Amino acid sequence: MRNAVLGVALCFSATLLARPDATVTIHPEQGKQIIPKEIYGQFAEHLGTCIYGGLWVGEGSSIPNVSGYRTDVLEALKELKVPVLRWPGGCFADEYHWMDGIGPRENRPRMVNNNWGGTVEDNSFGTHEFLNLCEMLGCEPYISGNVGSGSVEEMAKWVEYMTSEAGSPMADLRRKNGREKPWKVKYFGVGNESWGCGGSMRPEYYSDLYRRYSTYCRNYDGNVLFKIASGASDYDYNWTEVLMNNIGHRMDGVSLHYYTVAGWTGSKGSATKFTNDDYYWTLGKCREIEDVLKRHIAIMDKYDPKKQIALMVDEWGTWWDEEPGTVPGHLYQQNTMRDAFVASLSLDIFHKYTDRVKMTNIAQIANVLHSMILTKDDKMVLTPTYHVFKMYNVHQDATYLPLDLECERKIVRDDRILPMVSATASRDKDGKIHVSLSNVNLEGEQEITVKIDGQAVKSVKGTILTSANIDDYNTFDNPDTVAPKEFKDAKITKGGLTVTLPAKSIVTLEVD
Ligand code: AHR
Repeated sequence: MRNAVLGVALCFSATLLARPDATVTIHPEQGKQIIPKEIYGQFAEHLGTCIYGGLWVGEGSSIPNVSGYRTDVLEALKELKVPVLRWPGGCFADEYHWMDGIGPRENRPRMVNNNWGGTVEDNSFGTHEFLNLCEMLGCEPYISGNVGSGSVEEMAKWVEYMTSEAGSPMADLRRKNGREKPWKVKYFGVGNESWGCGGSMRPEYYSDLYRRYSTYCRNYDGNVLFKIASGASDYDYNWTEVLMNNIGHRMDGVSLHYYTVAGWTGSKGSATKFTNDDYYWTLGKCREIEDVLKRHIAIMDKYDPKKQIALMVDEWGTWWDEEPGTVPGHLYQQNTMRDAFVASLSLDIFHKYTDRVKMTNIAQIANVLHSMILTKDDKMVLTPTYHVFKMYNVHQDATYLPLDLECERKIVRDDRILPMVSATASRDKDGKIHVSLSNVNLEGEQEITVKIDGQAVKSVKGTILTSANIDDYNTFDNPDTVAPKEFKDAKITKGGLTVTLPAKSIVTLEVD
């Protein structure tokens, strides 16, 4: 992108054309914070074909499956190293009655999924099916309990059913249903969006309900719950303030939902048909989560200076219009390179705040909103966002390395300032440094100087995700239009690396 005139606000003066387009200076000696693997969390709701068709087809299906779970999806998710999976909602959680989803499947009652298209839910995927899936994936379950329409007793018994060892009525019921040993359940959400679909409450009232419901969510037989209060939407700082004041350390975490969305009324725009201006706006809006995080964190810091209460961004991602011809209310959307950038830029930001942000869950894992995976009958396709999550999974549980970034900035619609490069770095347990770089510019390559304080680079290898067009996506007929490839344009220099990033590309480097 050297010499390009973009109408941008420049970090450098125009006289410095011989300089690189961007400089990233990594400070390994300042690294102290671990990036919890839970930053890479996922979310699966009973919504559209996320569960039914996406994850679960049942043992009798002609679609290849392992005990009812799609084989292709299982394999893809194992590769992704999913650390935690949130379930059963979302809005669905506050209408879900867990006892309808246990016991012989043919006896399970049906219900109408009022939030999501009025689809009839047959409850064939319930507690056992979910917790067994988590065991197969090797991930932590994150259960969302029903505060909106459920009772305290119902919630208390669910915890007992899942986690108590033996000799209690719920443990006996679980054993009767075929599961001898309890599961380990750490993360437990006390309601979801209690200001909206979870009960339309005021924060003061919800705080009291949280105190009441959570009192009866017990720790059984060595299982220790990490209780998460239903937190704010986007810019609702008052919600966080009231919960911190009224609940305080009775909660281990409080959630935050932030979607990259044009608005909640009218069209949200097409997932695949958009202008360059729309693209840059999207990245500006996605990056605004950093300011939103800072403001919620500042409130939390006031009440909890020791940072003992975690902020969990347990829903985030893009939200576009549903694909034409799909079932209304099922939130099925395609996923382009634009969505891949929303993922990489968001993860870069989350890495910076892990002294407070301990988990995030992109919405959602399959066939809904900003998905990893799309399925149709027996076909499956991995989205560009899946590839970002896979390229980035090297950062899970690694030490975050602070960095300085100098680059061009573009003023985008709604007067947001968008840096043309995004970067993050970490050091893993074996001492390897991973650097992820995104060149969001649509118009040209960028030469990036990467300096690593106090360290000479001996070797470098990398992976790149890019595509000819920003609106490219993968389909069942062309599943590899956007797919990662080996990256060879990182050269070792005396001071570190020179990396030539093509336009609209995301790269992860491994540096030794
Ligand atoms: O992720 C889709 C929906 O978005 C969730 O059910 C809800 O919590 C949020 O409004």
